[in-house]
Amino acid sequence: MNPKTFKIKSFGCQMNVYDGDRMAELLTARGMSAAADGEDAELVVLNTCHIREKAAEKAYSDVGRLRREDGSKPLIALAGCVAQAEGAEARRRSPMIDIVVGPQAYHRLPEMVAEAVRGARPVDTDMPAISKFDAFPDRRRANPSSFLTVQEGCDKFCTYCVVPYTRGAEISRPLSDIVAEAHALVDGGAREIVLLGQNVNAWTDGDRGLAHLIRALARIDGLERIRYTTSHPADMTDELIAAHGEVEKLMPYLHLPVQSGSNRILKAMNRSHTVETYLATLEKMRAARPDVALSGDFIVGFPGETDEDFQATLNIVDAVRYASAYSFKYSARPGTPAATMEDQIPREIMDDRLQRLQARIDEHQLAFNRSKTGIDTKVLIERKGRHEGQMIGRSPWLQSVHIDTDAEPGDMLEVTLIAAGDRSMAGAVRQKVAA
Ligand code: 5AD
Ligand code: SF4
Repeated sequence: MNPKTFKIKSFGCQMNVYDGDRMAELLTARGMSAAADGEDAELVVLNTCHIREKAAEKAYSDVGRLRREDGSKPLIALAGCVAQAEGAEARRRSPMIDIVVGPQAYHRLPEMVAEAVRGARPVDTDMPAISKFDAFPDRRRANPSSFLTVQEGCDKFCTYCVVPYTRGAEISRPLSDIVAEAHALVDGGAREIVLLGQNVNAWTDGDRGLAHLIRALARIDGLERIRYTTSHPADMTDELIAAHGEVEKLMPYLHLPVQSGSNRILKAMNRSHTVETYLATLEKMRAARPDVALSGDFIVGFPGETDEDFQATLNIVDAVRYASAYSFKYSARPGTPAATMEDQIPREIMDDRLQRLQARIDEHQLAFNRSKTGIDTKVLIERKGRHEGQMIGRSPWLQSVHIDTDAEPGDMLEVTLIAAGDRSMAGAVRQKVAA
């Protein structure tokens, strides 16, 4: 008998969140329903991430924990990037796993569930040319801020990164499919769309780039905000930068990972940009949109990183004055070129550098937030806050804003930002903006 209830646990990036939601819709369309909180699901999908740390080990121990006290277990599907990387090996390492499905094959999940119920142990890590996107049912309900995957995969081959192996080569969805999905999201209640891709600004329909797509989406009535993530510095075209100055719905925010402030390390990472070209791109961005909030990713402890290289990373943080940034300890990924490079950095040094980098980033984040106090702006309400009567929304600069209000998720409020914390802002309502 097919399972009646399911639970999907997504780890890692926003693209996994999007994929997890699509899997839920596929299963729902086949008559299954999401298990309530705390309820045992008959099918559990672990939608895994492989980017850092002992991802595979963590996935296997998560699988082990699904065994129930009476010795029984739900039907278990391993999905996402660990599934892609491990393939059939996953079943050998953990016989509890019934289904292995990679990120480009999960449109087959309902079928694979049926096969597993019949006693088969299906594995599908193909990366078919026909798109899984065509198999998705229509989306009826959408979050005020909804993700929309427009591009997948990566051809950049940074030497530390597994993505080109787990997500495959860069592919872009056709413009008409994206516009149709965006319309459906807006009809379902979305007021903001976040375009997703491992290399979102490499999106192309052959001869036009992401700026063209953004301009097409900006024409949709009822869609008020557009964002995109994550971008690569090499694909940050003048046209896309110009769009930030011209398309009102495109929010003043750019997540542009630099990874290191040392040209020597950038070269070893195969990043294809230098500190100078990166800073020049940001300068153009600030000329086009002076209030843009800048964000980035950093890796500390890449093989061979000296104190001097690390100091250069602190320097670039000061030079850019990031509004927010993510930083990670280098993690050797099996099969990537950096994993076998000489001069791997000891853990204690990485810990120390990460702490110092994060402290520096926090200072700039607080300074950015303080620079916005007293400003009147719009906040899109997304969810309830922790306190009674409090709601949380986002400013144009992607700050979380806490507001005492009886507004609902999806409302757009005119707000004065009244106080700055290092992770969020407090706001006071001026008025609700009509839809
Ligand atoms: N080790 C540490 N961080 C990594 N990232 C990607 N691969 C690794 C790795 N092997 C980080 C990069 C990237 C972000 C999504 O994760 O900073 O931008
Ligand atoms: Fe990984 Fe580099 Fe591609 Fe980003 S650009 S997904 S870090 S290989």
